[in-house]
Amino acid sequence: MIAGDDATRASVTVRAPAKINLHLGVGALGAGGFHPLATVYQAIGLYEDVTVSDQQDWSVHLTGEADLDLADVPVDESNLAVRAARALCVHHGLTDHAARIEIRKGIPVAGGLAGGSADAAATLLALDRLWDLRTSDEDLLRLGADLGSDVPFALLGGTATGLGRGEEVAPLEDGGDWWWCVVPHAEGLSTPAVYRHFDELSGDGVPPPAVPDELRRALASGDPERLAAQLHNDLQAPALDLRPELRRTFDDGVAAGALAALLSGSGPTVLLLCADQAGVHEVRRAMVEAGHERAVVAPGPVPGVHEVVYENAPDTRNLR
Ligand code: C5P
Repeated sequence: MIAGDDATRASVTVRAPAKINLHLGVGALGAGGFHPLATVYQAIGLYEDVTVSDQQDWSVHLTGEADLDLADVPVDESNLAVRAARALCVHHGLTDHAARIEIRKGIPVAGGLAGGSADAAATLLALDRLWDLRTSDEDLLRLGADLGSDVPFALLGGTATGLGRGEEVAPLEDGGDWWWCVVPHAEGLSTPAVYRHFDELSGDGVPPPAVPDELRRALASGDPERLAAQLHNDLQAPALDLRPELRRTFDDGVAAGALAALLSGSGPTVLLLCADQAGVHEVRRAMVEAGHERAVVAPGPVPGVHEVVYENAPDTRNLR
């Protein structure tokens, strides 16, 4: 991340990545309505671009890639990007600032890929740069944590552990260039609903979650077969119970040649880990042939939020 060191500009664009969870260990529901987590995040190459510019009143504008459904994304004060902007203003005691926030979405909505958290993280950094606020990384992480469990990781990027309710992030050694085929689904899943169903299915006696040492070793080794054997998500069973048709995507992925299939976060996006770059394109082709038209290729890990400068360059995101 690294907060601003440039002179004030008319507009600033910041890019933020999608996240996946290579391990999502969930504990018993806690007093604050959250579950203790032990997770391993990875940032992958699907992105939101947020452009901010000075304006008298706050406003949010959405654009997206052709196959993204934006109908469920609010453009009022409840949008996480606006809440992030307002929190940053409160933090700096700014009472007369407002901005136009333009969100170019490339991450499926309600897909378990933390697109809203990416918007919040990108907005924090973009406004910090626009107004030359020089917010410390620690303060950005703290502001992010107050906005949502996945926001600090969107700031950090790469591969990281997440403890607490997911907001306590620390970088993790990752020796791999991993290739994911990402298979979104037309209808999103509600994160609270999936956590609630986790509670219903697991009953009493849920052990405290932990990050397995073998997963750390597999990540450091860079060996995709080793990583494939360690992928795990405690929300997979409840999500599959709520959406049984997702099983077909898992089966199709393995039949297409993926090393492993994993639910992304609270779903319903399915992640297919592939052996290498050539392999992931083959798997994507096979998934499209099997009827999963929206399958896309994404590398990981990628950096967290960062400023981008377009100089009439063609948009090459998510090239297939
Ligand atoms: O933090 P975030 O806003 O992403 O959380 C959305 C919802 O997901 C929470 O309101 C809660 O119902 C559920 N959640 C949880 N335990 C976590 C993270 C999220 O129960 N650690």
